[in-house]
Amino acid sequence: MTQNHSRVLADSESARLIDFGSIGHEEIGYLTAVEVFKGVPFEVKRAYWTYGTPSGMLRGHHAHRELEQVIVAVAGKLEIDIEGPARAKATYIMDSPKHGLYVPKMHWRTIRFGEGAVLLSLASMLYDENEYIRDYSEFERLCAK
Ligand code: TYD
Repeated sequence: MTQNHSRVLADSESARLIDFGSIGHEEIGYLTAVEVFKGVPFEVKRAYWTYGTPSGMLRGHHAHRELEQVIVAVAGKLEIDIEGPARAKATYIMDSPKHGLYVPKMHWRTIRFGEGAVLLSLASMLYDENEYIRDYSEFERLCAK
């Protein structure tokens, strides 16, 4: 399958949980690995992680015009509310480092952080503030188009 074909499939899909699996056992611990187009349905251009987030804190409150990402709770629990361009809403409880949440473009997200939660994001684009939609009414307007 070509890279372009994979991207088209990913763009047309909605948010979904991905099980990356894990290697290891309880005596030595576990390891989870992903590769481009194997676990992550796009070419990763950037990774970032958040830490030291107070328990109960709500972050996110934005969508992206073009960016796709996979979010992993590498520690603790994340409760992620997602609203897609067709205005369907879903809540994902992320509390396993072997799972990722694929978030396509044009999906509004709000993320509640549990105690000690560490969020890792793998993103399809470099950071570009102009690419964010931070105004919910603008998100609604763009969805209606
Ligand atoms: P933001 O994406 O708004 O995080 P959250 O939705 O979790 O609150 O980013 C917070 C700040 O960090 C914002 O000023 C933009 C900046 N930032 C970067 O400079 N580079 C990055 O890769 C990211 C993700 C954010």
